Amino acid sequence: MALRIGIVGCGKIAGNHARALQQVPGVEVVGCCDPDLERARTFAAAHGITTAVGSVGELLDLGLDACTVCTPHPVHEEVVVAAAQAGIHVLCEKPIAVDVVAADRMIEAADRAGITFGVLFQRRFWPAARRIRDAIDDGRIGVPVVGEASVILHRPSSYYSADAWRGRWDTDGGGVLMTQAVHQIDMLQWFMGEAVQVSGFIRTHTHAEHIETEDSASAVVSFASGGTATVTATTGANHNLGNRVTVIGQTGAIASVLEFPEGQEGVNEIWTVPGSTEFRAPFTSGVRANLDVTEVNAGLSDFHTLQVQDFADAVLTGRAPAVTGRDARASLAIVAAVYESSRTGRVVDLTPAPAPVTTKENA
Ligand SMILES: NC(=O)c1ccc[n+]([C@@H]2O[C@H](COP(=O)([O-])OP(=O)(O)OC[C@H]3O[C@@H](n4cnc5c(N)ncnc54)[C@H](O)[C@@H]3O)[C@@H](O)[C@H]2O)c1
Repeated sequence: MALRIGIVGCGKIAGNHARALQQVPGVEVVGCCDPDLERARTFAAAHGITTAVGSVGELLDLGLDACTVCTPHPVHEEVVVAAAQAGIHVLCEKPIAVDVVAADRMIEAADRAGITFGVLFQRRFWPAARRIRDAIDDGRIGVPVVGEASVILHRPSSYYSADAWRGRWDTDGGGVLMTQAVHQIDMLQWFMGEAVQVSGFIRTHTHAEHIETEDSASAVVSFASGGTATVTATTGANHNLGNRVTVIGQTGAIASVLEFPEGQEGVNEIWTVPGSTEFRAPFTSGVRANLDVTEVNAGLSDFHTLQVQDFADAVLTGRAPAVTGRDARASLAIVAAVYESSRTGRVVDLTPAPAPVTTKENA
């Protein structure tokens, strides 16, 4: 019996989902939905999907086993909760949601329904990223003590004007941190462990005339391990230098994963891990750096396929998917804490407050 899957939201990234799902044996894409029904129909025709409908309810009624969610981030919660309540497994695009309270409601709905709930962070499937995770696990890097996530991107103003929801707090939930850097923040905390304190600043510079969310951010994160890291992010650079995550471990070993041009498979640009030392020099004149966002998405397609394969296998075998809702909550919590820190001027504590001690006096 094939796993019957539907796609919710038929915009730009949904194409990666359709192509990925069609490559997974034992999976059948039975329908797609978008409130823009014409868009859903065009998408269905382009990807050989038999049924296109205009609402999530109609899609879930097709008798799905699972769905993938490709709507704007503030809409993730209502779709994931509706799917969970219908007993349908869900793979949701990043970020999980735009605030941690919504993420908690999604996780709770999935737990209550006993469904598989995964969140898409396909860069974790790069061999270069897994190589770092493995070298942390086997002790060659040791506990990461210093980290750096660098997200130096170019977006033209047309990137924001093309989709009415982008760049506004109510419909996008954030800017470069929420939409782009959340990938590298996810990878940073996957390497470094639980984040406990965050401080930072957000600003809107290059795109100030047409967006209200941040196009630039600088932040510092401290981790339960004692390690610390910085995050630098912008969509306002005139050249797209892509994304880099670097860690330095207790052994002194340095390992980085660089994505340049943006959307291309990440590579270990720096690798000084016992056993081998490698350096790459990727920034040379003549590389076309400022790719269109559709080219960026296309470059990531193979890794969407790996994560969709992992999700389908998780559903079929009952194991946890590679990136769970709880895993995805962690990067959102860091992004939300940078916003809070920038607003309040304070360091934000991410650790839960200790339970009050009950004594004879306060019982
Ligand atoms: N993993 C990645 O690398 C990656 C890359 C791009 C986008 N994304 C994520 O995918 C999501 C969508 O981004 P996009 O660039 O495809 O946006 P988009 O604007 O191109 O597409 C979003 C689609 O969702 C539809 N939609 C809105 N409300 C809906 C609802 N209630 N039900 C069904 N459909 C609805 C819109 O009509 C639109 O067609 C975002 O959360 C984004 O962060 C992830």
